[in-house]
Amino acid sequence: MEPGARRLIRENFDAIAPRAVVFGADFYHRLFEAAPHLRTRFPPELAPQIRKLVETLSTLISHLAAPTAMREELHRLGARHAHLHIGADDYDLVSATMIETLRAWLGPAFTPACEAAWTDTLSHVSKVMLDGAGSVTPQRREAGGPIRR
Ligand code: HEM
Repeated sequence: MEPGARRLIRENFDAIAPRAVVFGADFYHRLFEAAPHLRTRFPPELAPQIRKLVETLSTLISHLAAPTAMREELHRLGARHAHLHIGADDYDLVSATMIETLRAWLGPAFTPACEAAWTDTLSHVSKVMLDGAGSVTPQRREAGGPIRR
């Protein structure tokens, strides 16, 4: 990813950062409105999940210049998601909802160049996580090892 695109993502995230938890809550609200069936996959108490998502986003953004540094962690995260039977379509929906939430929050500051930069990043993250998910065989999936709360 070129430096200009990385800068746009950082600027967008910095604008949200002071209200990151409310942003995260709005993201999940939009996700469950678009796909109510996903709600039951998450624990009733969403606050810890919101914190984890915001922390992961923040870590990812601080490593944009060195994407391979996050590779192993994303593989492991993807493998944990595979235990929850989360597939490529779910990643597409999560990415689209993230873009929609950013647009709603940032308004005109979320330019087409910003959208392209986020779309690239989210599709890269999804791909690496799905690669990690690919290492989970059906036997291992059934054997356990899901995300622990
Ligand atoms: C953009 C890619 C994604 C990122 C960065 C991400 C991030 C995370 C993180 C950091 C956790 C906590 C992991 C842990 O506690 O070990 C988590 C858990 C979870 N994620 Fe994701 N996730 C992504 C995609 C998805 C998708 C596409 C879905 C499905 C709709 C999903 C559903 C879940 C669920 C159900 C949990 C477990 C909640 C629980 O039981 O505590 N995630 N995710």
